[in-house]
Amino acid sequence: MPLPENHPLETGQTRDSALLRSYRGEYVTARPVWFMRQAGRSLPEYRALRADIPMLQACLEPELVTEITLQPVRRHGVDAAILFSDIVIPALLAGVEVEIVPGRGPVFAHPVRTRADVHALPDLDPQALDVIRRAVALTVAALGTTPLIAFAGAPFTLASYLVEGGPSKDQLRARTMMRADPQTWDALARWCARVSGAFLRAQVESGASAAQVFDSWAGSLDRETWRRHAAPHTARTIAALDGLAVPRVHFGLGTAGVYDLLPDLGADVIGVDWRTPLDLAHERAPRVPLQGNIDPAVLGADWPAVADHVHDVLRRGAAAPGHVVNLGHGVPPSTDPDVLTRIVELVHATEVRG
Ligand code: CP3
Repeated sequence: MPLPENHPLETGQTRDSALLRSYRGEYVTARPVWFMRQAGRSLPEYRALRADIPMLQACLEPELVTEITLQPVRRHGVDAAILFSDIVIPALLAGVEVEIVPGRGPVFAHPVRTRADVHALPDLDPQALDVIRRAVALTVAALGTTPLIAFAGAPFTLASYLVEGGPSKDQLRARTMMRADPQTWDALARWCARVSGAFLRAQVESGASAAQVFDSWAGSLDRETWRRHAAPHTARTIAALDGLAVPRVHFGLGTAGVYDLLPDLGADVIGVDWRTPLDLAHERAPRVPLQGNIDPAVLGADWPAVADHVHDVLRRGAAAPGHVVNLGHGVPPSTDPDVLTRIVELVHATEVRG
């Protein structure tokens, strides 16, 4: 099934935006910019709205999702919105008990560690995604010509929370499952790919103009283990979008060692963390537009240091077939939001010659 007729890429509303042009590798004079975790605790208007409602509950209130998703667009003038939601939402909608503990992250009531645990995971009823469809439709209508980015967690990243029962330093239990019981791992990762893929597809069908898969913890695997036990499942998540012509972005931390493999998994754009200079990322994946990679740590420095670093990122990204400016990971909650607004102004005011 192709994109619906009223989709912003079909009506032309977002088709020629700087974001979409850059994701397609077309020339733009000023780089587009958005920030991972741009909606969130760095914004006082977010903290005010979220004061009385738990994170995951807020994600299931379409009006609230729209408002929170739009906050950074209004405040910073970024070139894209990303849906206010979370990678654990599809698990929650399938009926898995999970909450987000402030300052910690997702915590599951029942960690998934055995074959029986995996087989007991409930299927995601497609109707359970209606709340996400409504939230996206409402958000896209409010955004007008600003494109919305859909997202989902890659199976290894989502599964590492399920297996641990919460955040972990090095995803040790999930990595052990791959080696100790590869069949159970495979069944779990397939479940994650199904629910994440359905979540991603629902967002795009409802009006998102691009999609990003957060393979955030992929860098804790060596190349061969990633290729064997994680990559096929990431590819399945991306393949949930088959038939829907939107750019697909892959983001991970510490994934420079697999950039060359990403295009074959279906990624059209590579999200680069702050550790890999964009010129090096471009050498590793020469035909692919890049996204990134301002070091989130610089946001706490004086403006001249921030501006210097942003210029360096623009310079290094210039040779790539397209460059969407972003951070190398999410906005730290302690960030002064005015710094983000100034970065947007600086990026928009700088002409880059490829
Ligand atoms: O980027 C955006 O603005 C869009 C929304 C978004 C959220 N989570 C909102 C959120 C996105 C894309 C995510 C993805 C996500 N969630 C990932 C992958 C991206 C990454 O950071 O690598 C992961 C691993 C999660 C799981 C998760 N959810 C964590 C680790 C946390 C942080 C916990 C904390 O308090 O520090 C969350 C909570 C979360 N997700 C918040 C937001 C705005 C903060 C909730 C709050 O207000 O307390």
